[in-house]
Amino acid sequence: METLTILGGQPLRGTLAVQGSKNAVLPILAAAAAIPGRFALTNFPPIRDGIVTRELLEGLGVRTFLRGDCLRLDSTGPVGSAPDPKLAGRLRSSVLFLGALLARNGKAAIPLPGGCVLGARPLDLHLTALEALGVCVRCEPGRLVCAGRPRGGTVLLRYPSVGATENLMLAALGAAGPVCILGAAREPEIRDLADFLTACGARIRGAGTACLRIEPAPLHGAAHRVLPDRMEAATWLCAAAATGGSLTLTGLRPDHLRPVLKTLSRAGCRITEQSGRLTLCAGPLRAAGPVVTGPYPAFPTDAQAPVMAALLRAAGSTVFEETVFEARFRHVPALRALGADIETAGQLARVRGVKSLHGARIAATDLRGAAAMVIAALAAEGETTLSQAWHLDRGYGDFVERLQSLGAEVHSA
Ligand code: UD1
Repeated sequence: METLTILGGQPLRGTLAVQGSKNAVLPILAAAAAIPGRFALTNFPPIRDGIVTRELLEGLGVRTFLRGDCLRLDSTGPVGSAPDPKLAGRLRSSVLFLGALLARNGKAAIPLPGGCVLGARPLDLHLTALEALGVCVRCEPGRLVCAGRPRGGTVLLRYPSVGATENLMLAALGAAGPVCILGAAREPEIRDLADFLTACGARIRGAGTACLRIEPAPLHGAAHRVLPDRMEAATWLCAAAATGGSLTLTGLRPDHLRPVLKTLSRAGCRITEQSGRLTLCAGPLRAAGPVVTGPYPAFPTDAQAPVMAALLRAAGSTVFEETVFEARFRHVPALRALGADIETAGQLARVRGVKSLHGARIAATDLRGAAAMVIAALAAEGETTLSQAWHLDRGYGDFVERLQSLGAEVHSA
């Protein structure tokens, strides 16, 4: 998807089933390389990051078969230790193959990962913790080389990094003794990885808390249903809120979305929940800040841009503070081009609600920033052309079709 044309002004209405979570499925796919076995993943999302990871697994020797939303994997044969640099370079999550391949082969050579550019994205937490477990880590130009089976022990993360926690969980699968991760991330996707690994025979305690313990255990293949994507859900809700629409989502976990739901309610949306369904009815919006991002269970950084887009026409001022990534206001210039009144200073942004937005020619910068731009364009009068729309394919399956099913006038080229 190169370019999107969006004719704004239509309130979004309808029902959508939430897809499987991008951030849950990617570490689970890496785990399938760590454990020799046959796996069946249902609710597999049709997103580009999933497709690229699948190609990367195939290159390592893991066989994969996709039918509908069920991805079957067979990693019973030999699995390589060096993922294809071209594929790995397109994904931030390729760094998780470090832990996975260490567990499987006792060595791994990983090209420096790609993904969204959100400022410096260091790997010091991953590497220091692996070294503390006795792994030898060497940084070569353009790639990381690790060797040695991790020994058991306790590692302390000074920040609850999602990726570092997942990498350590995967490396711990091949460790000689129990591994305890203190200061672990508590995101629902960590819990989903732990649920998958537990189904594979792993002995894990404390998933979803800051103290995670993984004990050595015999491992095997398993079936697992991927967690619903809380960020996809947040995006659709923000689009409905921004356009004054009403939307029902099915197959989601509202308990994973509390800070976003609270902000949208404070902004004047009526939100009701009933047995796995959530309905949002938007009214006239008012400012709903401050929105301060942070590690789970705080407000998720991935929802910051979509929620900002939803509040561009809300009466009053909303302040956003981004504490997780240093460059996560990259969507702001495009929102301004659509008529938004946003002032930024370092990690702070203040949105003053405007009466109306208008179409413009803009370019996507990153996955969630692109989603924010689409939300603002849907709420704007006139036509918007969004170039570099391929960013959206990384995390949203059938994006255009799903928007059209809600009444949006969107076309891709
Ligand atoms: C994951 C998610 C991403 C989400 C983020 C925070 C995936 C594929 N991506 O990214 O969508 O926005 O969690 O919820 O799951 N940091 C260090 N050193 C490290 C590692 C991280 O300083 O070794 C810093 C990062 O620069 C950033 C912060 O910690 O400022 C959070 O990063 P982290 O939690 O690791 O995010 P990711 O796993 O990259």
